[in-house]
Amino acid sequence: MIDNSVRNDELNANLSQTQISRSPTLNAQSAAELIPKKLLELLISEKQDDIVNHLTTLSIEAQGKLISRLSQINWSEFHQIYQAPELSHVEPAQVIALEQRLIDRSSTEAIGVAAYQKGEVAVLLVAGGEGSRLGLSGPKGCFPFGPISQDSMYKKHAEKVLAISNNTGHDVPFVLMTSPSTHEATVRFFTEQEFFGLKPSQVRFFQQDTVPTTDLTGKLLLKAPGELLENPNGHGGSIDGLFNSGTLDWLNQQGIKDLVYLQVDNVLAPAYDTYAIGLRRQNNSDMINKVIKKISPEEKVGALVRVDQKDSIIEYSDLTAAQKLMKTNEDTFLFGWGNVAAHVVSIDFITQLQHNHYTLPFHQAIKDVEAWNGEMRSKMQGIKRERFFFDILALGNNIGLEISREQEFAPLKNATGADSIESSRRLASNEHKRWLKECGIDVADHVTVEIRPAFAANVDELKSRIDKDPSLRSLNKNQDKILL
Ligand code: UD1
Repeated sequence: MIDNSVRNDELNANLSQTQISRSPTLNAQSAAELIPKKLLELLISEKQDDIVNHLTTLSIEAQGKLISRLSQINWSEFHQIYQAPELSHVEPAQVIALEQRLIDRSSTEAIGVAAYQKGEVAVLLVAGGEGSRLGLSGPKGCFPFGPISQDSMYKKHAEKVLAISNNTGHDVPFVLMTSPSTHEATVRFFTEQEFFGLKPSQVRFFQQDTVPTTDLTGKLLLKAPGELLENPNGHGGSIDGLFNSGTLDWLNQQGIKDLVYLQVDNVLAPAYDTYAIGLRRQNNSDMINKVIKKISPEEKVGALVRVDQKDSIIEYSDLTAAQKLMKTNEDTFLFGWGNVAAHVVSIDFITQLQHNHYTLPFHQAIKDVEAWNGEMRSKMQGIKRERFFFDILALGNNIGLEISREQEFAPLKNATGADSIESSRRLASNEHKRWLKECGIDVADHVTVEIRPAFAANVDELKSRIDKDPSLRSLNKNQDKILL
């Protein structure tokens, strides 16, 4: 709808108030003619005069598209920016340490087992990240991770869900959050690979929203003429995405009570976690947040702490080098509990957040971006805004749970160096070697071992495979590669 009611003199007054010194060619008449009055006023008050100016240079069709996108921006949410807490409010996290969980795990696990047996658990895989650090052009999930099989990350995660489905007789819902940059390729990949043995009806994809990227002064950037530069709105976008896509209803209708949240970049994160599910239910808590002891204060993981009596994750990028070294006593670092970014969340809790219209704040990060400069796309620094899933910790009652780093954490972030393809493959192989050892099969250190989740998704499943087929015991332990 075009609203011509803004008079030229009013508009010019508004524009001069916002000091559009960089817009000498702005055709005030045409801006007033083509942009609905309220939107124009809003853009001017948001100091987005460059976009107003740009609009006047576009074809009618392109103007319509850009105006429609600009009208959707919720500026008050856009300005809701996460503030790192004052250090004086930060206390050490309360965590159930590994030793503690080993004391009486059987009753807790039994509750978890029953939850899976009743078909009350679903798995959410967040896979909307752009994988830029890994240098990939497609989704990270398509990366051929398997050191021997070359199986993709998606296949590794999907087979974990397949294993639970086969073992419980329930089609465990597998939900994938994608983004505009990963959606099409992800859906095509799943379709081509026949959903890795899962039923298409148990797999559901939804796309997270995007949010405009700005320059360092907060001005909207363009990707191309008439098109805003945007970035995925962070894995916290899954809260709205689950709701808006109808996925939350779909899960509720199936009687799902627990959601296992996994990141695509960690193949070792278990989908079958009877202890975490049991613990959440036993304590009637909203969320279990898995942590590890940080290897060093510099390790690039978020830190679980308490802030004003609530759990909170402070990202490594929000801490200075000196803060990372802070101690609570002689040998305990204040920021020593590292966030694995693997959680178990109650579906009731997420449903409640939606009913209360809760929105998560945006974290801002300065990143290299490519924006349209009027003639071509060029590299510059911009601000990406993202919501973080674990910010919901502050809204519920949670339990921090230490997990074994070796057993559950093999992050793949970078092409080389720390958290690389090589290191995460090695960690996964070491863990699978440990499973073989627990089953009485000792293999030499140099051997690469890969156990596909469809064969055995954990050491207990491997034990029962070997019990059923004792010939597995006589596999050649000296070959360089063992693929099961
Ligand atoms: C993340 C955690 C960090 C944790 C570490 C463990 C965040 C912000 N930080 O760091 O606390 O210690 O993992 O490995 O998550 N994703 C989306 N949509 C997006 C952005 C990301 O789905 O818009 C997904 C990615 O596909 C990936 C995951 O979220 O699966 C992690 O995202 P990333 O931004 O790479 O976080 P990290 O810096 O690795």
